[in-house]
Amino acid sequence: MQDIVEKLKEKRAQARMGGGQKRIDAQHAKGKLTARERIELLLDEGTFEEWDMFVEHRCSDFGMQDTKIPGDGVVTGYGMINGRLVFVFSQDFTVFGGALSEAHAEKIVKIMQQAMKVGAPVIGLNDSGGARIQEGVASLGGYADVFQQNVLASGVVPQISVIMGPCAGGAVYSPAMTDFIFMVKDSSYMFVTGPDVVKTVTHEEVTAEELGGALTHSSKSGVADMAFENDVEALMMVRRLYNYLPLSNREKPPVRPTSDPADRMDYSLDTLVPANPNLPYDIKELILKVVDNDDFFELQPDYAKNIVIGLARMNGQTVGIVANQPLVLAGCLDIKSSIKAGRFVRFCDAFNIPIVTFVDVPGFMPGTAQEYGGIIKHGAKLLFAYAEATVPKITVITRKAYGGAYDVMASKHLRGDVNLAWPNAEIAVMGAKGAVEIIFRQDKNDPEKLAAREAEYKARFANPFVAGARGFIDDVIHPHETRKRICRSLTMLKDKQLDNPWRKHDNIPL
Ligand code: COA
Repeated sequence: MQDIVEKLKEKRAQARMGGGQKRIDAQHAKGKLTARERIELLLDEGTFEEWDMFVEHRCSDFGMQDTKIPGDGVVTGYGMINGRLVFVFSQDFTVFGGALSEAHAEKIVKIMQQAMKVGAPVIGLNDSGGARIQEGVASLGGYADVFQQNVLASGVVPQISVIMGPCAGGAVYSPAMTDFIFMVKDSSYMFVTGPDVVKTVTHEEVTAEELGGALTHSSKSGVADMAFENDVEALMMVRRLYNYLPLSNREKPPVRPTSDPADRMDYSLDTLVPANPNLPYDIKELILKVVDNDDFFELQPDYAKNIVIGLARMNGQTVGIVANQPLVLAGCLDIKSSIKAGRFVRFCDAFNIPIVTFVDVPGFMPGTAQEYGGIIKHGAKLLFAYAEATVPKITVITRKAYGGAYDVMASKHLRGDVNLAWPNAEIAVMGAKGAVEIIFRQDKNDPEKLAAREAEYKARFANPFVAGARGFIDDVIHPHETRKRICRSLTMLKDKQLDNPWRKHDNIPL
């Protein structure tokens, strides 16, 4: 017995040291924390229950039989974030560069399966040189097993990836299938093929950071949701994000009691929208003024800025916010913004998070770049996502709601539950100027006549009452009462039930 206890102690100590002090020092020298330090920061103190500390790889090629490290390059288990359950895996770069072996993959799959059984999110901290080269196809099989589990867990439990070191080749596809990707600036990168291969194949010279660093993915490719300065900040933000989420699709998000009154008025909103419809304003000001305690967790803040998405609370309840941003591209919908918002709407719908949409959209972005890029298909993603969503949907039109984009943005026709408009809302096929130029083409050389026609069109259509007369909006509200009206709507919709027809799965345009 004593022997076993001694052996246990020894093995635990060995596992905790990972690849040894030298490699731990090297990790720190790069500004990175170790796998265990990261878990300690991520979870509530003293809550981590580790699994599979004694798992070792089974490879005997290339002298690997003599280099076995308990845990095999990944620390797995479960713990708590603010008292709520979460499963976690953290790749240990000090052990074979965090490379994924068959056994390492089995450990990840095991906690993912357990998370699905009990209904709790999975957070993956990625820091890995990729497939364990000495194992060859066995490690590739391991990746595929993780991918399969990611897909099965998608929409069942929230999955969050934090990229805190290398993540290249096939390894990128596990995070890619999770709900959120956070990256750390300067120490993490993600790419399918690295700079050397890129140079050989396309003759482009690019650094790892430029090709797949945190800034690249959070602003250019949209692969990552956010980029953070260091490991600590990234982990703290994961904890913050986690607080908004339900543990699984079986439950509603947690309600956090708030001191912010649900009927709080904000009179500054009455002058938010400029009198000139061509002047922009910052939609984030509206968001901050209506949510609880001006606390808004924006996602993808540096990508497709013409649409704003993120999580907030209203009357203590988590809501997903989607809002056109008039400050960027006049708030037009384009390929990137449709994909960005479409995926977010689907996330909210999968996890019982009501969606609040603020609309000020002059239409879809015109141009060959958009058409050749497939705006028809990509714009349809957002339309599809809103139309299939069965969670409570509350829409406020603050100004323009033109054309097809009006339909797309959680309109009444797409089963919007509560559709409100501010008094200066313009719900129309297009702006007055464009409309008049088309329907009164014969007057194109008579500016006076055209101006009169434009004024006539504006008076007839540039208001919320035409849509109101048909019941396409439920009410016209004062901007200052927006918070109160949304909070009341959320309460009314608390027990909303709506099902889509049975099918194997839908066929969203991809
Ligand atoms: N399989 C097995 N071991 C790996 C590995 C892999 N895929 N990737 C890294 N390692 C090991 C290295 O051999 C090294 O071991 P050592 O400490 O015993 O010397 C250790 O991990 C650290 O790697 P190192 O190359 O020193 O770190 P680095 O920070 O300079 O570079 C990488 C990191 C990821 C860029 C580099 O290790 C690399 O290119 N790895 C291979 C990537 C790859 O092609 N993966 C397979 C396809 S997915």
